[in-house]
Amino acid sequence: MLNSKTFSYVLKIFSFLPKSRRKEFFALIPVALISGVSDIFVLTIVSRLFNFLSGQPRDSVPYLSNLFDFEPKYKILILISIFIIASWFSSFIKLYVRAKQLKLKATIWRDLSELALKNLLSQQYEFFIENKNTDLSASILVSINRVAENIVLPILKTVSGMFLIILISTTILVIAKLSALLLICGLLLGFLLISLSIIPYIRFATKKRLEVELASNNIINESLNSIIDIKLTNSESFFSKQFKNIGKNAIPAIWKGETLPEIPRALIEPFGITLIFIIGIFPSLFSSDITEIAKVIPFLATIAAACLKLTPPLQDTFKGYNAIRGGLPDLEVTLNLIKNNNQKNILKRDSFLDKFLYPKKTIKLNNISYSYPNSNTNAINNLSLKINVGSRIAFVGGTGSGKTTTANLLLQLLSPTKGNLLLDDLPLKQKHVKQWQMNCAYVQQSFYLPSSSILENIAFAKDKEQINIEDVWKAIDSARLKELVENLPEGLNTNIGDSGIKLSGGQRQRLAIARAFYRKSRLLILDEATSSLDNKTESEIMNSIDLISNNCTLVVIAHRLSTVINSDEIYEFEKGKIINFGNFEQLCKVSESFQDLNFLENKILNG
Ligand SMILES: Nc1ncnc2c1ncn2[C@@H]1O[C@H](COP(=O)(O)OP(=O)(O)OP(=O)(O)O)[C@@H](O)[C@H]1O
Ligand SMILES: [Mg+2]
Repeated sequence: MLNSKTFSYVLKIFSFLPKSRRKEFFALIPVALISGVSDIFVLTIVSRLFNFLSGQPRDSVPYLSNLFDFEPKYKILILISIFIIASWFSSFIKLYVRAKQLKLKATIWRDLSELALKNLLSQQYEFFIENKNTDLSASILVSINRVAENIVLPILKTVSGMFLIILISTTILVIAKLSALLLICGLLLGFLLISLSIIPYIRFATKKRLEVELASNNIINESLNSIIDIKLTNSESFFSKQFKNIGKNAIPAIWKGETLPEIPRALIEPFGITLIFIIGIFPSLFSSDITEIAKVIPFLATIAAACLKLTPPLQDTFKGYNAIRGGLPDLEVTLNLIKNNNQKNILKRDSFLDKFLYPKKTIKLNNISYSYPNSNTNAINNLSLKINVGSRIAFVGGTGSGKTTTANLLLQLLSPTKGNLLLDDLPLKQKHVKQWQMNCAYVQQSFYLPSSSILENIAFAKDKEQINIEDVWKAIDSARLKELVENLPEGLNTNIGDSGIKLSGGQRQRLAIARAFYRKSRLLILDEATSSLDNKTESEIMNSIDLISNNCTLVVIAHRLSTVINSDEIYEFEKGKIINFGNFEQLCKVSESFQDLNFLENKILNG
């Protein structure tokens, strides 16, 4: 049983937790022991009390017999008082144990979620191309929560419960010997059989439930993100129906998954009572002397009290056992989320400044090929290009020709399948990628803006006290946003809504550009970053790049020729290759498609 997949996963997950958690875990044991001892104490008193009341000889309690040599009246009073105090103590200590367990569960849940997010963010960019963001967020929120609830908590309960079970069982054994042994073995066997038979169903239910949760989360996200299309195509009911159908499948998985572990729990009481009477009363029923039954009353009372004490930890243990074994799918998801930690790839923030890595002369892509994960064809094919540091470069070419992919390769967000990035003719090593990326700013073709203030959007991922307001205003001015921000009621602190929904397309683009400007990076890549701007604003921004760029290398990806006209070098892309390059005039001479474009644009511009 301990070799099973489930337990090896549990052990692995626990090995990822901080050391202090292990200490807290082991600290539960002495408290559980005290709780067990207090229970034994209560039981012994019960046994004593009933023996005394029924006038039976007191041989059944070996330890407390001679402690009280008082008058019977006082003896009863003392016994009852001790019983009351011990019961109170026993309940309080149990409450304390439960509080400790719940605290540890909550801490571990947080530990696992933090680990998962840290691990997720440290994955290579390609990982996010392959996985859906909504699935990842749902896994962190749902699976880890369930691992905490259905696996961590039951384990904590079981560990504490084990001590109670062992201590109470030993006491019963001492008091009732063979009958108790039969009782305990009967109970354990009964439970084991029930548990083993329901585990496959629980596991199936958990898996189904996981699928349904992911699918539901997907539909909610997709429908919210496509709200405009939903409105225009009047397809609200389509999504509602999809959601409803998934919900239908979910119900059996949910109720079965929750009811099945309850079965052993619900059966333990009648099962225990039946066993007690079979073992305790049956033998005396066959006896000729009816007073034999009276003799077993103290014994039955003690066993019944012991069973009452034994029931909760047994229930916890068996329910926990079933939940743990059934929770394998959740465990798998959680383990995947927290393992493979790529933490090495993240630089400590303080060490950033002295770790910049930037070439003095050239940035080159040397014979690079790249194919996206799960794709058979190369998006980039044996491509080489050279960028002089401080120059202005443009990528042009038809849609799907590989411009964005090449930008991602320059930024090392994607690692080439063949070839490498050369900085001053030296290949960039994997361990230096972070230092290289620290120099780069990238305004993406389609980007997301956090739903926060303009200030937080420009000074991205910086604490308020680290933000240099003067630089923020400079960036705003250069991105031609000053007038807008000054006229906003809350100025820099104005919230821009979900992904900047409160801004126009051009304002969003300028905000993204301002963020890139604020970073004062040395390689700035603008991927269609000015496509939503009118010609005048665009040329103003391009001019301000000249003004603020101090030795800044600029790569502009654009379809509009006016954007690239002033570039030192223009690379023309087609099907993942560079087919022509040179400055604007040179390209106009050699590239037919460029001539066509130039002609077309001139025609449009000049009527
Ligand atoms: N995540 C992806 N998975 C698989 N293939 C991709 C992925 N992203 C892009 N591609 C493919 O790679 C090729 C180059 O795409 P890329 O985005 O670099 O083109 P582009 O030149 O930037 O086009 P556009 O001007 O439309 O932005 C395309 O054929 C595209 O289908
Ligand atoms: Mg593109």
